[in-house]
Amino acid sequence: MLIKIQSAADVQPSEITPESIYQKRRDFLRNSIGIGLSLAAAGAFSPLLAKPDLKLNQLVKSKYSTDEKQTDFKDITSYNNFYELGTSKKDPSRYAHELKTEPWSVTIAGECEKPGKLTLEDFIKPHALEERIYRLRCVEGWSMVIPWVGFSLADVLKRFQPTSKAKYVAFETLFDPKNLHGQRRRVLDWPYVEGLRMDEAMNPLAMLAVGLYGQVLPNQNGAPLRLVVPWKYGFKSIKSIVKISFSEKQPPATWNVSQPSEYGFYSNVNPAVPHPRWSQKRERRIGEFRKRKTLPFNGYGEQVASLYSGMDLKKYF
Ligand code: MTE
Repeated sequence: MLIKIQSAADVQPSEITPESIYQKRRDFLRNSIGIGLSLAAAGAFSPLLAKPDLKLNQLVKSKYSTDEKQTDFKDITSYNNFYELGTSKKDPSRYAHELKTEPWSVTIAGECEKPGKLTLEDFIKPHALEERIYRLRCVEGWSMVIPWVGFSLADVLKRFQPTSKAKYVAFETLFDPKNLHGQRRRVLDWPYVEGLRMDEAMNPLAMLAVGLYGQVLPNQNGAPLRLVVPWKYGFKSIKSIVKISFSEKQPPATWNVSQPSEYGFYSNVNPAVPHPRWSQKRERRIGEFRKRKTLPFNGYGEQVASLYSGMDLKKYF
C-alpha cells in the first residue's frame, strides 16, 4: 500500500488558522480570565485553546477518577475508532488532518427554552474544566484508562433549560464528506448520531471532553468536543459534536440503526449479555497481555445501576 507522507508544502491554505480566528481566540482567552473563571478553568483554558502541546498541571481532578494505571498517550491517540476517518484502528491518526475544527459551532435544538447556535468558545466558556480519569470499554473487547479534560454534561444541559417534554438528548457529529473520506463511503448512515435518556445524561459521570492528558483533544479522539459515558460501550461516546438536541422520543443511534440485533440503544457494559458474535465477559486493557474480567457498568455500578432498576437489561441491552 502506498502511503503519502504530508510535507509542509502539502499543507492546504484551509488548514492554516486564519489570523482573524487566532486573534479572536487570544482576545477570548484574555477576556475569560478577566471575567473571573475559576482558577481551574482559567489555568486550563489558555493552554488548552492556545497552546495545544502544553501539559496542564492545574486541573482539579474529579472525585470519580480511577487511580488505575493510565493507558499510554501513544496508544490512546493511535488506536482509535472514528469511521469518518477510516475503518481501521490506525486510520484516524493517519487521516486526522481531514477533520477541520476551525471554525466550530454547536447547535442546541429541540425541547428547550434556550435553543441557538454557539461558537465553541461560547459553548465552553461557562464551564470549569477538570480532569476525569475514566475507564473506556469498547464493545470489541478492549479497554483503556484515559485522563480526559472536560466538564459535566448535566451542567451543559441545564444551561439550555430543557422543557418537561425533553425525555432524551441527541448528539450529532460533523457531516463534512468533502474532507472526511470515511463519509464518502456508506459504511454507516452519516452523520454519526447518538442519544441518551435524560436521566442518564444528567448523571454526574457523563461528561463532554475537550482534551486528554492535559492537551487539546487530538482530532482522532473527537476534537474539539466529544461525549464520554464511561459505563457504556465506547460507541456511545460520540465524537466531534456539532449538535445537541432535546426530544420527547428516543432518538436514533448510529450502531443501533446499522445492526439493531447487535447494538442496543442502551449499550451499558454488561458481561452477562454477550454480543451475538462474541462474549463480553473479558477484556484486554491496551498495553497489557492478560485479560481482565469485565465489570457490570464498566465498574461504575454504584453511580449508575439505579438508573435501570426494574428494567430487564437482557431485553434493553
Ligand atoms: N464517534 C464518531 N463520530 N464516529 C465513530 O466512528 N466511534 C465510537 C466512538 N465515537 C465513533 C465515535 C467507538 S466504536 C469508540 S470505541 C470510541 O469512539 C473510541 O474513542 P477513542 O478513539 O477516543 O478511543
